[in-house]
Amino acid sequence: MAAAAHGQTLDVLHWWTSAGERRAVDRLVQQLERQGVAWNDAAIPGGAGVAAMKVLKSRVLAGDPRDVAQVIGRTLTDWADLGLVLPLDDVAQRGRWKQAMFPVVLQVVSHRHHVIAAPLGVHRINTLLYHQALWARLKLGAPRTWDDVEQAATALRKAGLTPLAWSDEPWQVATVFETLLLGEGGPTLYAELASAQRWQAWQNPGVLKALVRLRWLRGLNGDAAVEQPWTHSARQLYQGQAGMFIMGDWASGELKAWGAQPGTDFGCAAVPGTAGMHLYSIDTLAMLVGKKRRDADQDRLAELLGQPAMQLAYNQAKGSVPVRTDIDPAQLDECARDSWQTLARPGSSQLPSIAHRMSADESTKDALAAALHRFIKNRELTPEQTQARLVTIIRGAARIQ
Ligand code: BGC
Repeated sequence: MAAAAHGQTLDVLHWWTSAGERRAVDRLVQQLERQGVAWNDAAIPGGAGVAAMKVLKSRVLAGDPRDVAQVIGRTLTDWADLGLVLPLDDVAQRGRWKQAMFPVVLQVVSHRHHVIAAPLGVHRINTLLYHQALWARLKLGAPRTWDDVEQAATALRKAGLTPLAWSDEPWQVATVFETLLLGEGGPTLYAELASAQRWQAWQNPGVLKALVRLRWLRGLNGDAAVEQPWTHSARQLYQGQAGMFIMGDWASGELKAWGAQPGTDFGCAAVPGTAGMHLYSIDTLAMLVGKKRRDADQDRLAELLGQPAMQLAYNQAKGSVPVRTDIDPAQLDECARDSWQTLARPGSSQLPSIAHRMSADESTKDALAAALHRFIKNRELTPEQTQARLVTIIRGAARIQ
């Protein structure tokens, strides 16, 4: 890509390679180019950044980081502690981020009194997507409770369809599981579960209930073991082969990129038990400290990412919602509007994703996902044994904090 008029080209590492993710990034790149910032794409495919983070880490260790990278949540604060990211305090002050952005967003990008990344959008993890035409054909009500889900599953099975698009990929299992933790355990317990210091919370019966629910959910399709990228599951829903899909709302962005419309072609509900709650994962770009001096260009990029037009263009494609409180929600589709309004509602429960690094560090989240994966794969493992394993993992993590 040619360097833009002023400044140099910035290398940006991220993992947005699916149709919806790509569309969102392309919108950013176009708008940035118009404003003189050139973005050189360094994308590493793989859902939830499992591969991208490995590549990024090895480059950082080799002393050759990218200029900018999607580093989020706990990983972001850990990297800030290591002095790997540039503070953006001046940019945040000039852009009046404090006044314009959701408190939860500011909290995620602030660490030890510094702003350490530019926020892009807020994803809602507790999202259940369903196929509207199938719902109409089978005369089903919106899936609001687990009973509704069970009824829908029975009708879908009878019609020869897969009830729930599903993958045993560890991060996807962990993503579904945390929505169940919130639904079955409630927001107070979930908040404790997400804070590693309170490892005892993982002994709560709510965790056991969530594990039982996880096995039940996976059993809705019968015994077949499927391990596939999240985009394949989204495709099953899009084509009406599967009726439902529990996934972060980047899946909504994907369906939109393929031409499906929220509210018409697919519906979105909160995962049962989580209506009115927001289980969030906030995407952020960190400006990495490198050998080449790029600070001015990095600042400029951070500044532009926060602006309202850029926020809307990107998030309307990504499935996430703008990080700003001053946008018009009428400009969002109905899935996104509910997400944004939940964030905006005073007193609503807003909980950090464990599976997407908002609260757990990289190795803890991986260990949790591996334990859940084993639970799903091996029917001999009881929910009680798995709960004990989760307790051990979190207890270990709490010890090294
Ligand atoms: C990221 C999203 C991304 C999703 C699937 C999540 O961890 O926050 O931006 O679309 O993974 O790759």
